[in-house]
Amino acid sequence: MNKIPLILDVDTGVDDAIAILYALSCPELELLGICTVAGNQTLDKTTRNTLSVLEYLGRTDVPVAMGSSGPLMRPLHTAPQVHGENGLGNVQLPEPAKKPLEEDAVSSMRRWIEQSPRPVTIAAVGPLTNIALLLKSYPHLKSKIEKIAIMGGGAFRGNASPVAEFNIYVDPEAAHMVFKAGVPMVMCGLDVTMQAYATQEDIDAFAALGNKAGRFCADIFRFYYDFHMSGVRGKLPGCAVHDAVTVMTLTHPELFKGEDAYVEVDLDGQYTLGCTAADFRDRGRIAEKNAHVIMEIDREAFIRLLLKAAASYS
Ligand code: RIB
Ligand code: CA
Repeated sequence: MNKIPLILDVDTGVDDAIAILYALSCPELELLGICTVAGNQTLDKTTRNTLSVLEYLGRTDVPVAMGSSGPLMRPLHTAPQVHGENGLGNVQLPEPAKKPLEEDAVSSMRRWIEQSPRPVTIAAVGPLTNIALLLKSYPHLKSKIEKIAIMGGGAFRGNASPVAEFNIYVDPEAAHMVFKAGVPMVMCGLDVTMQAYATQEDIDAFAALGNKAGRFCADIFRFYYDFHMSGVRGKLPGCAVHDAVTVMTLTHPELFKGEDAYVEVDLDGQYTLGCTAADFRDRGRIAEKNAHVIMEIDREAFIRLLLKAAASYS
């Protein structure tokens, strides 16, 4: 099997951790490395969390490179109310022994992409600051990037604002640059990720696996689930496992449905800053389509695959 060479860019957080756990378990993927960015929490915390999760899962072989400590042009917004003060649902994992690379994220991504014999896929599930800097600094690498699959945006919904999703809202300028860069994009926005929820029964099933990874998932879901249940408007029957959707579109595309669209990020709106305006029209659209927007998921299969991934760890 030709494995997919993959770079993960994360702001580990609870759902980022589930995405990492899933990616590590997939034989279809060759994880070249993980880059960290500020988002759900500050860079020091998202980096520590990423290293801790890798150590906890016995995968210290995966290199971690630190990226941007904040957006290109704006102050950082974090989400402690969603992911806890430590970013992992306030679950305390042992302090990681391993350190991040001396090399920064953009330099590491450049090296991994240049050294890969085949075009590399980037799965970016945090603010797109690192990715924007990579594409701006080394535009010649675009031809060696297969696609950029993001958790971000929403054609018809927001969470950080009525019309903007958190990852885009935190760094709209970076997102704007990435969507304009001309690299094939897959947008896993809130349209699909809010369908990818884990119910209390699903979380209990992780705990019932009886292994470290299953207990870890159930533990970090606890705070995250309570946040989702505290919402008033449009309450879900569970907590949205946003980031794992993006990785699973790479390994199991058959579980998803989507449409091509022209997507542009609004940078000017007083009330629409960070909105991913998606034009699905075939005639009269604003410009050539630049993204495949995922709109539907087989949620049951999604949860089954996450449980199978967690069960695969000793
Ligand atoms: O809006 C949800 C996204 O923002 C997820 O990637 C979550 O981890 C946060 O980064
Ligand atoms: Ca994330």
